[in-house]
Amino acid sequence: MRRIVFTGFRGTGKTEIGQWVAHQMNLPFIDTDSLIEERSGRSIPDIFHEEGEERFRTWEREVIATLPVDSVVVSTGGGAVIDPVNMEHLRQASVCILLTADIDTIKQRLFKKPRPALTNHPLAEEIAEVVDERRQAYHASADFSVDTTETSPEIAGNRVLQLLKNGVPTHQQRTHALAFFKTGRIPAPALSTLENLLTSPSRDPQTRILGIAGYPCAHSLSPRLFNALFERYQLNSRRCADWRCKYRSIFRGVCNRLQYGLGGDTKTTRCKKRCKGSASRCGRCCGCGCVRAL
Ligand code: S3P
Repeated sequence: MRRIVFTGFRGTGKTEIGQWVAHQMNLPFIDTDSLIEERSGRSIPDIFHEEGEERFRTWEREVIATLPVDSVVVSTGGGAVIDPVNMEHLRQASVCILLTADIDTIKQRLFKKPRPALTNHPLAEEIAEVVDERRQAYHASADFSVDTTETSPEIAGNRVLQLLKNGVPTHQQRTHALAFFKTGRIPAPALSTLENLLTSPSRDPQTRILGIAGYPCAHSLSPRLFNALFERYQLNSRRCADWRCKYRSIFRGVCNRLQYGLGGDTKTTRCKKRCKGSASRCGRCCGCGCVRAL
């Protein structure tokens, strides 16, 4: 089974919820901060105070690089996501869950259990500033996200178990989405993949689906490119293409209804192959001189 990894800022409940989920699933639990303390023989505040944050980050990188990769629940330190090498390790064959909470909740939790300062600013300002700085890395770190504001570890933990078991969108939402995709001239093989991913009884609810819509998009190389990258990094994601639609808003509407189960956005670029987007067709783009969906 895939490793379950919790990411998120301090005070979002990674350790408590991770422990609770591990207990419910009868899996071992690893907290990377505890592992650093064990291996270094010192507390995290001592490492910060005596050797500085940089040294702590080195310990953190070493510990993350040597974590076991299956059947385990891992809780990471709040800053682990800022290092892309850490994320490359943490995402390997894992389902990553981002925990979030609002600033007041985080502040109250950190008052109860203080951590070494990350800036010279007062706590509330520090939280707002660092969360903002890391926002993108946090979101990129995760397959799913759970808000832990005003919840107990049990309630949030149950939400995590539900996500692992069922995925994000309900059966009804997935069925509606599939009906919609069937109207979009998706070629049969791609449609059958999508059908499997969305409604087959044997589907893996943790698979993320990314869609490409465009007009035209039939020649897009990106599904192959992204699927190769997902495979390379063992990400549980699939990219499906060819939903031919001029109206981006319709596609987005369906994606939104699926919440985060199916994400979609379009990006266009001129064909950089032989015809450079000119009117003479190169066979790799539509040849109409337009931009090509990627
Ligand atoms: C850190 C968060 C801490 C710990 C260290 C650095 C951060 O972990 O790794 O103090 O940079 O946000 P928790 O998120 O478990 O508090």
